Amino acid sequence: MKYSGLKGMEDILPPDIAVWQSVEAAARRIFRLYGFHEIRVPILEATDIFIRGIGEATDIVEKEMYTFTDKGNRSVTMRPEGTAPVVRCFVEKSLQTMPSPQKFYYSGPMFRYERPQKGRFRQFYQIGAEAFGVAGPSMDAELIMLLKKLLEEIGLGGLNFEINSIGCAECRPAYRRALLDFFGGKLEEYCPDCKRRYEANPLRILDCKVERCVELRQGTPVVTDYLCEDCRDHFNELLSILRTFKVSCTINPNLVRGLDYYTKTTFEVTSEHLGAQKAVAAGGRYDRLVEEFGGPATPAIGFAIGMERLVTLLKDISPADAPAPRVFVATLGKEAELEGFRVVEMLRSEGVWAEQSYGTASLKSQLRRADRLNAEIAIIIGENELKSGKVQWKNLKKKEQGEIAVSDIRTLFS
Ligand code: HAM
Repeated sequence: MKYSGLKGMEDILPPDIAVWQSVEAAARRIFRLYGFHEIRVPILEATDIFIRGIGEATDIVEKEMYTFTDKGNRSVTMRPEGTAPVVRCFVEKSLQTMPSPQKFYYSGPMFRYERPQKGRFRQFYQIGAEAFGVAGPSMDAELIMLLKKLLEEIGLGGLNFEINSIGCAECRPAYRRALLDFFGGKLEEYCPDCKRRYEANPLRILDCKVERCVELRQGTPVVTDYLCEDCRDHFNELLSILRTFKVSCTINPNLVRGLDYYTKTTFEVTSEHLGAQKAVAAGGRYDRLVEEFGGPATPAIGFAIGMERLVTLLKDISPADAPAPRVFVATLGKEAELEGFRVVEMLRSEGVWAEQSYGTASLKSQLRRADRLNAEIAIIIGENELKSGKVQWKNLKKKEQGEIAVSDIRTLFS
């Protein structure tokens, strides 16, 4: 019986994993500079958290959640995103009592039952950040600049930053009315999903990918024309801070995002090299969500990076190199094999990646293995070496060789 992995669920293997790890390391470095602390929330949460958080009329909740009933007869869902679980945790653990603002980051797998295609998976990884407690646009700017710095640090400067404001509870009703008027005129021509969205949340009609719906949406009222004074000021101030720091952003009034919790600022980082799924990272403000989850009124903003898309872009720039050991120890005979084992352990305890030969293959085939592993130096230990306490070394890159005392091997690559 041969098994295969599930559709849309990928194995992440060497050498690609090295790219993942270097992105994760860079993210940790940058988050530390900006005072973000890592938190780890469970993969499985009560289904209600996502229905309430993301919104009943969204694609994610309507069609894409991995939801099942557990053995205790509770409806649980494998997280399709990280914000709702982090807010659940914030409220449950009263994290507002930590010094303000509370800034967190997380990384890990998310699950959406979408149709798999290039850049779209059913299990995918996000690195996300969420900041609580600052209502003003300086936090929006800080997050956008953090994201930009992180992308630059890993070699992806020059991606497009798109930004918008989708208003708040004050101005949303007027925009909603404008949308209802606009869509209402030709409602019978929209797809059945959009007809339902018309009742539940007309903003979601703007996300529909059905060709006819996209055509019908030509000339839809844009949200920025309906912003209240507070939202408009917030947006203008944010744009002004970003200009001060020379962060170039394109205002995209159609950027409404596919999740219902957003208020005011929304943003996306895109790359034309990714094809249809072009968003590498996305986020926005969600000033009402903590309160909606039963916590104290707390403004908040965050973003999440899609790791698979990020890694695709990075591999396009420079293909992943397989990491290679510095030393390969080849041995001839049982006794030498044990001495070889001792040498690799000594090197490893000094922090050097060393590989041993495992067994008694011929010297030629052991050196072939060293080559295949792309090792830098081969050490050869045979009977003579055991007697003399000196070993042969070959620098496989520089094609140099010599003899050295075991205790001095470290000096070969210092
Ligand atoms: P999102 O736009 O749903 O936002 O996802 C963020 C990023 O995750 C996307 O831009 C994309 O790179 C990646 N992504 C989403 N779905 C898939 C998929 N099926 N396959 C591969 N990559 C995918 C959120 O998840 C929000 N929680 C972001 C946020 C945090 N907003 C505020 N705080």
